Amino acid sequence: MGRVTLFVVTLAIAFMLSSVCSNSANTTDNGSGLAIAGEQLDGKSLIYMGENMKSTLLKLLGKSFENFEQSFENFERKMNEKICEIDPCDQWSPWSKCSARLKNTFGFKSRSRVCWFEKHDACNRTGEQTVENDNNVCEGRCPLSYTFYNATNSCLKYSKEKLNQNAAEKVCKQDGGHLLNTDTEGKWNASVSIALSNNVGVVWIDGTRTSVTAKWVYLNGKDPEANGVTSKWNSGQPGNQANEFCRVIYMQSGTYYWHDSVCTSDYSSICEVT
Ligand SMILES: *[C@@H]1O[C@H](CO)[C@@H](O)[C@H](O)[C@H]1NC(C)=O
Ligand SMILES: *[C@@H]1O[C@H](CO)[C@@H](O)[C@H](O)[C@H]1NC(C)=O
Ligand SMILES: *[C@@H]1O[C@H](CO)[C@@H](O)[C@H](O)[C@H]1NC(C)=O
Ligand SMILES: *[C@@H]1O[C@H](CO)[C@@H](O)[C@H](O)[C@H]1NC(C)=O
Ligand SMILES: *[C@@H]1O[C@H](CO)[C@@H](O)[C@H](O)[C@H]1NC(C)=O
Repeated sequence: MGRVTLFVVTLAIAFMLSSVCSNSANTTDNGSGLAIAGEQLDGKSLIYMGENMKSTLLKLLGKSFENFEQSFENFERKMNEKICEIDPCDQWSPWSKCSARLKNTFGFKSRSRVCWFEKHDACNRTGEQTVENDNNVCEGRCPLSYTFYNATNSCLKYSKEKLNQNAAEKVCKQDGGHLLNTDTEGKWNASVSIALSNNVGVVWIDGTRTSVTAKWVYLNGKDPEANGVTSKWNSGQPGNQANEFCRVIYMQSGTYYWHDSVCTSDYSSICEVT
């Protein structure tokens, strides 16, 4: 066997061994980087794999084959340099929201990353930065029958069917959302305008508690007041009557408020898909 062939065979053994070890050991190490490299072979996972192997098998094997002209450590360093040359960039930022909001309509999304094209030392990421931008076509995400609201930056739907709060939430969930939580002033405004335009006095929103003394909990977002929304409770609300464990918006004398209500009452509702 020639040197190069032996080298390749040894590497193959190293790969096999490390994959076997990572499977049987069942440690917190998620697969010595090999699984990652298999799924998504980019520069980052290769560096991770190289570093990981350096501390285990490659290092050991490198010591046993010291008579090779090119040691494994040298090989690794060269490999890492090569990777840096091929991919001198950070990870892409997450994609921005699609400029189109409704399903079946198309718009643009963008993302960016920082790159270092430093020539002297490819892995030195301290030099001058270049920001790269990437744009792509995308489809809007609001399900049919939903409307995009700028004030909530989400898709909202008035659900006319009168249901108890739990059943109303299930309808929203089928659409990939939840009952609207009025946890920003924008969401409060949107809920009021939806209730007004549908001429309805009581509407389910998100918010439940297990007793009249328990904390309110939300499936969708935060506690409105803790999130900076000024209280919308009507005077004397929450009324804390027995079984009033669910939250509605409720109109009295032309103004909407939060009220607590009996969860099994049937009202219409507002769903939100983000
Ligand atoms: C391996 O780890 C996973 C998750 O950490 C665990 O569910 C599984 O039971 C473990 N298997 C063995 C053989 O220890
Ligand atoms: C799993 O792999 C990733 C590499 O993408 C690494 O950042 C992370 O620390 C690994 N997790 C564990 C538990 O080893
Ligand atoms: C990275 O490159 C810069 C500019 O060439 C240099 O000043 C710095 O010492 C280098 N850093 C490392 C860790 O090599
Ligand atoms: C929607 O809101 C964004 C900021 O979140 C603002 O830049 C934009 O002008 C708004 N569009 C309309 C039509 O109000
Ligand atoms: C909500 O509506 C009120 C009253 O119309 C308005 O003053 C306020 O600017 C609105 N806030 C948001 C975040 O839309």
